[in-house]
Amino acid sequence: MSKNKTTRRDLLKTITALTGGAMIPFGGQSQIVGQNKLPIINGDPVDLSDIINLFDFEKMAEGKMTKMVYEYVASGAADEFTVRWNRQAFDALKINPSVLNDVSKLDTAVTLFGHKLAYPILIAPTAFHKIMHPEGELATAKGAGKAKAIYVVSSFTTTALEEIKKVATEPLWFQLYARDDKEFTKNLVQKAETLGCRALCITVDTPVAGARDRQARVKFKLPEGINAPYRVGESLSITWKEMEWLISFAKIPVLLKGILNPDDAEKAIKIGASGIIVSNHSGRNLDTVPATIEVLPRIVERVNKRIPILMDGGIRRGTDVLKAIAFGANAVLVGKPICFGLASGGAEGVTKTLEILRAEFEMAMALTGRANIASIDQSLIWK
Ligand SMILES: Cc1cc2nc3c(=O)[nH]c(=O)nc-3n(C[C@H](O)[C@H](O)[C@H](O)COP(=O)(O)O)c2cc1C
Repeated sequence: MSKNKTTRRDLLKTITALTGGAMIPFGGQSQIVGQNKLPIINGDPVDLSDIINLFDFEKMAEGKMTKMVYEYVASGAADEFTVRWNRQAFDALKINPSVLNDVSKLDTAVTLFGHKLAYPILIAPTAFHKIMHPEGELATAKGAGKAKAIYVVSSFTTTALEEIKKVATEPLWFQLYARDDKEFTKNLVQKAETLGCRALCITVDTPVAGARDRQARVKFKLPEGINAPYRVGESLSITWKEMEWLISFAKIPVLLKGILNPDDAEKAIKIGASGIIVSNHSGRNLDTVPATIEVLPRIVERVNKRIPILMDGGIRRGTDVLKAIAFGANAVLVGKPICFGLASGGAEGVTKTLEILRAEFEMAMALTGRANIASIDQSLIWK
């Protein structure tokens, strides 16, 4: 049986481990102490056994983060309509299941740019992991490795890419915020390539930051001693011309992250992008743009299978992953949940976040009668 095939027994085992007493073993800097065998991470005992779903992680993380860091992660732009719509739009979609299909073996594997993923969920690029957990991006990479997921490292990482690469056991992708120093930007892309990053996600929805009221209210800034080595100079206000320049020398597939308009998707294909990510930056930039799951079908229609389409924004449940794939996404990414998992339990928190989402996704596949990704189509959305 292929490594990506999940039998009903495997699924049951995973669910028992996730919901029952089984403590996920801790690695890295952790130690086991006392009778309860609670792992210690950087001095704090961490017990993730009560974490059943991704919302539990947010509650736990809120208790562990400073107010400034929690507000940085949890907030959106302005009145946060888009933040709420991202979730509400998923909730409003009802599922039309199909019964008596053979779901004794589930195959969740997908292939992206020639690389086989065990399941279609990636870690979205999010900045400044050292403010969320002392081990920062190293913990994220270890957690991703254990969960067999691709980690898209943010340009605003607080750990050098070389260091992350050393601990990564699954492929890394790199997200680029182009800087005004073009030579620096080119060197950064080449560094990512040399270190073996498999794809480049160029963020196109942030020519300026949004109206981040909640961040302003807590006076968000990077704490003393934590810095982001690739956040130098000013951001380059990229246009299609600079994007063509970036694509002209990139040796790895380039995805444009932050596409909401079908005309932009068309332009992306025209200039040679290898993929796009439908994203509204988790509602952090322009408030009142639509939920990404609402936008997705239009982009899918226009792109018409010419290049892969990924999406993110508000994915918190396995059924959300199912719905995104039903509407034509090749894979999804999660941002905030990874930050909350990281803050709650370092690498183990990241792994558990992904494992919960994957297990829920597998349950949703089995319960809708879909044994593989190709069989997940729009007919499972209730019309
Ligand atoms: C705390 C935080 C930091 C982020 N930093 C970046 C970043 O550095 N680069 C980027 O392209 N997107 C960034 N994003 C956006 C994510 O990549 C992703 O689009 C979004 O979080 C997905 O929505 P979700 O958080 O609802 O899953 C960030 C999001 C959050 C929540």
